[in-house]
Amino acid sequence: MDKQQRFEELHPDVFFLTSEQPTQLADFLRQCGWIVADEAVQRIEKPGEGNMNYVLRVGTDRQSFIVKQSRPWVEKYPQLDAPIERIIVEAQFYDALSEVAGLQSYIPALKGFKAQHFMMAVEDLGEASDFTNNYKKSEQITPAELADLIQFISGLHQVSIGQLQVPFPDNQALKTLNAEHIFNYPYLEDNGFDLDTVQPGLQTLATTYKKDETLKKKIQKLGEVYLGEGGTLLHGDYYPGSWLRTAKGTRIIDPEFAYVGCAEFDLGVLVAHLRMAQTDDAVIRAGLEAYDLTTRTFDHALFAGFCGAEILRRIIGLAQLPLDLTLEEKEHLLLWAAASVLNPETNPYLTGLPEKDSVPSIDKKE
Ligand SMILES: Nc1ncnc2c1ncn2[C@@H]1O[C@H](COP(=O)(O)OP(=O)(O)O)[C@@H](O)[C@H]1O
Ligand SMILES: [Mg+2]
Repeated sequence: MDKQQRFEELHPDVFFLTSEQPTQLADFLRQCGWIVADEAVQRIEKPGEGNMNYVLRVGTDRQSFIVKQSRPWVEKYPQLDAPIERIIVEAQFYDALSEVAGLQSYIPALKGFKAQHFMMAVEDLGEASDFTNNYKKSEQITPAELADLIQFISGLHQVSIGQLQVPFPDNQALKTLNAEHIFNYPYLEDNGFDLDTVQPGLQTLATTYKKDETLKKKIQKLGEVYLGEGGTLLHGDYYPGSWLRTAKGTRIIDPEFAYVGCAEFDLGVLVAHLRMAQTDDAVIRAGLEAYDLTTRTFDHALFAGFCGAEILRRIIGLAQLPLDLTLEEKEHLLLWAAASVLNPETNPYLTGLPEKDSVPSIDKKE
C-alpha cells in the first residue's frame, strides 16, 4: 500500500499533502485561506531534506510559503510509527514566540494552522541550507553564527511559561519515541542494527558502552529526567538540522520536539553537536559565555549527562549523522562522552555562574 492509501484509510477526512496533485492542492490552499481565489500556484517543490514530516514550498503569482504536514509515521522511515499530533507542538511553539521580541526574528512567521489536517503554513525563509554540512572538518560554524544560536536559545529559555496564552502541550508521545532512541536503543546489544555498515569497526567500539552497566544506569536516569517535567520552554531538537543559513541570517526551525523541561537538555544537545562538528574549542567556550546563567539555576551534571548521552547515541544509535570522523576520532569522542556522563566534572563547558568580578558591585562606595 502506498503512503497516500495508508493515510486515507487511517484519516479519511484529512487532506493528504502531496506535490503530485497540484490542482487539488491549490483548491485546498484556497479553502484554508492561504491563497486567494484568483491566485495561481506556479511552483510546488521540496524545500530541503527533512526527516519526520512532509514539507513543500508553494510558489504562487504573489507569494511563496512552506506547508508542513505530520503523518502517523516518520516520513523518512515510514515503517516507524510517530504521533501525528506533533504538528500542534510546532505550530504552538511558533505562535508562542511570535510576539517575543528578540526571538521572533529568528523563526518563520506562522501563516496558518489547520489542526484537523495536521498541517501548518509558515513563512518561506528563502533558499537556505541547514547546518549539517558543518559536520565536515573543512566547514566551521563561525563565531557570529554561534552567537546567534546562543542568543536564540538563551532568550528562549527566559520565556515565562506562566505567561503563555495557551498551556504548552506536554508532547509526551513524541518524547517517549525520542527517549527510546536516545536512552535505550543504542545500549541494546542485539538491537539488529549493525554499526559496521556505518563504519567498519564501529560495532566492536560500541560493545564497550553496551556492556557498561554503570553507564547504562546513569543514561536511564537521564532518560527519566527527559521524560519528566521542568520549568523551561525548550526547542527540544537543537542541532544543525534545525538551524538554517539564510540570506537574512541564522534561523531556527523544526520545533516539533519542544516541551517544557530542563534547559540543560537543549544545551547538552547543542554542545554535543558542536563537538561532533569539531567546532574549535575556543569558539565553543567564547560562544557559551553569552548564555545567560544569571537568572536561573543550572545543573552542570545534568547538562554534562545530556551532552554525553547525545554524542553516544549519535555515534552508536540509529539516528546517524553525516559525521566526518575516523574510527579513532569516534573512539576519542565516545570516551569523552561517557566520561561526561559518569564524571560530569570532566565536561569543561558551562561550569557555572559568571565570575563575581564581572557583576557590577553596588555596595562599594569609596
Ligand atoms: N520556513 C522555511 N523556509 C525555508 N526552508 C524551509 C523552511 N522550513 C523548512 N525548510 C526546508 O525544508 C527542510 C525540512 O523541513 P523541516 O521542518 O526540518 O522538516 P522535518 O520535520 O521533516 O525535519 C528543512 O531542512 C529546510 O531545508
Ligand atoms: Mg528537520
